[in-house]
Amino acid sequence: MLKDRKIKTICLFLILIVALALAGCTRNVNKPLTTIAWDIPDGEMDPKVWGKYFPHQYSSYQKNMEVIAEDKTNYGSSERKSHIAAYPWKQNIWAGYGFSKDYNEERGHVWSVIDLTSTQRVNAKTPGSCLTCKTPNVPVLYEQLGDDYYATPLAEHLKDPNSMIPISCANCHDNETMELKIVQPPLRDALKKLGQDPDKLTHQEKRTLVCAQCHVEYYFDKENKSRVTFPWTEGFEPANIEEYYADLEFVDWEHAKTGQGMLKTQHPEYETFVDSAHYQAGVSCADCHMPYTKAGNEKYSSHWWTSPLKTAEQSCGTCHKDGSDARRDRVQYIQDKVADQLHKAGKISEELILSIEAAQKIEGIEQLKVDEAKVLSRRAVWYWDFVAAENSMGFHNPEKALHSLADSIDYARQGLALVKEAAAWAGGSFTIQPAKTEDANPTREITEKPNI
Ligand code: HEC
Ligand code: HEC
Ligand code: HEC
Ligand code: HEC
Repeated sequence: MLKDRKIKTICLFLILIVALALAGCTRNVNKPLTTIAWDIPDGEMDPKVWGKYFPHQYSSYQKNMEVIAEDKTNYGSSERKSHIAAYPWKQNIWAGYGFSKDYNEERGHVWSVIDLTSTQRVNAKTPGSCLTCKTPNVPVLYEQLGDDYYATPLAEHLKDPNSMIPISCANCHDNETMELKIVQPPLRDALKKLGQDPDKLTHQEKRTLVCAQCHVEYYFDKENKSRVTFPWTEGFEPANIEEYYADLEFVDWEHAKTGQGMLKTQHPEYETFVDSAHYQAGVSCADCHMPYTKAGNEKYSSHWWTSPLKTAEQSCGTCHKDGSDARRDRVQYIQDKVADQLHKAGKISEELILSIEAAQKIEGIEQLKVDEAKVLSRRAVWYWDFVAAENSMGFHNPEKALHSLADSIDYARQGLALVKEAAAWAGGSFTIQPAKTEDANPTREITEKPNI
């Protein structure tokens, strides 16, 4: 009897130790928060006011203000460099669309409004929809204006000083409880369409979904006041989203060289991450991008959103014990492979577009065949851009990225075969002049002067 009790006690003790150890491992325990009192007014958007109570989170958030040119990794950077100046052939892929004029590498959250107002892609007619992922004022404007928020010109929204506050605390946190909260209207809509309640997500789900408020593929629903909408109802594979757009007969722009209605991918970080090995293992965006950091005795989640390779020890070391150099090497291996295929895919898409343009001028060419090739150019560019516009150079899900690029190359080759066949049947021939890499000018100056 006594022995039984003893065993029971020991067992309970062991369970307690395991439970405590597990609690220590989950990154959700925030001891400091229980001892801090804060009083952040409702609707407060200024990160400085929030930062008075949470100085570590605030100062790490501010770190993105310094953009150090040397502080970059092979494929990540916090510098506002031009994508099209570095890869001139992208201008042929996006001919007739704003992206062929001005398209820059993304940088930290604190720059979101400056980068929006100074891109040459905005003008007096740009709808308010473009503000959606740039400032904590969006949920407030949406509450005031409803769906008219989207159709109201961007220039009009920018007259409100709160719209000039870049992405900040109120984009992810509740001011009273400091809990994570989904505030952005498009993600709230998208989750509801999938039968999920945006206010009843688990904490771990929110550690990824707060990022999916913005790091996603989206489109402006032109039938519906340019409402920002996530094309998620068919699934998260590039093929599912392509199907969604095909059903809608959706077109982002008409290609200046071929006349084909095309798609532009935005930044599908979330869609890419879904179904990755890390996603399947329950890892969240915050695990890698917001690692726990020490300041004296206090631990806090880093709010310096940047390449996790700069903090590999904290970002990867909690789970991978093979050292940060090994992890960085592995990432680089994956990224080098993806980058190689990515540029091959992009160059073949360019070749197809230029070939269609040239072949269309051949007298008597069979238009049906050319039209088929044009549809293939839309598909080739979509599958290429799904990886090009994503910001991790394939790391977030190497299988999905390489599969998408293989599809892109396949569609482009099918298209090229058709164009060449049609040209031969018409007894004509054509030559093309792809953009020269020598024309690259990655140091092209980019201004921060407002363009709107
Ligand atoms: C397993 C760790 C991990 C997870 C989880 C993860 N990322 Fe990343 N992320 C990385 C790595 C590694 C890179 C590549 C950085 C580089 O090239 O320097 C990266 C790159 C990025 C970049 C580009 C950074 C730059 O410097 O250009 C963005 C943006 C990003 N991730 C967002 C997200 C979002 C949003 C999620 C969740 C949907 C997510 N990440 C999940 C590890 C992760
Ligand atoms: C892009 C979304 C996002 C923004 C913007 C953001 N946070 Fe957080 N914050 C998070 C996430 C994710 C966590 C981790 C939550 C967890 O697991 O408990 C977090 C955690 C915290 C915590 C809990 C303690 C800790 O460090 O884990 C505090 C306090 C906090 N943030 C304050 C701030 C302040 C102050 C700002 C503005 C300067 C801010 N946050 C901006 C996403 C965000
Ligand atoms: C309200 C919209 C929004 C939310 C929420 C958001 N981001 Fe971002 N993020 C952006 C925008 C916009 C940029 C690009 C800003 C620019 O280039 O001016 C960006 C850039 C980044 C970068 C690139 C930084 C660099 O130096 O190149 C990383 C990394 C990143 N975000 C990670 C995250 C993670 C992780 C989360 C979730 C914890 C998150 N973001 C939540 C909109 C958002
Ligand atoms: C919260 C835990 C966790 C964190 C943090 C984490 N990983 Fe992982 N990682 C995993 C798990 C689990 C797997 C899947 C292992 C498996 O399937 O066998 C994995 C798999 C991988 C793989 C795929 C295996 C391979 O070698 O191809 C790579 C690469 C990787 N992680 C790199 C990183 C990097 C880089 C970071 C930091 C930026 C990181 N991980 C952060 C848990 C984590």
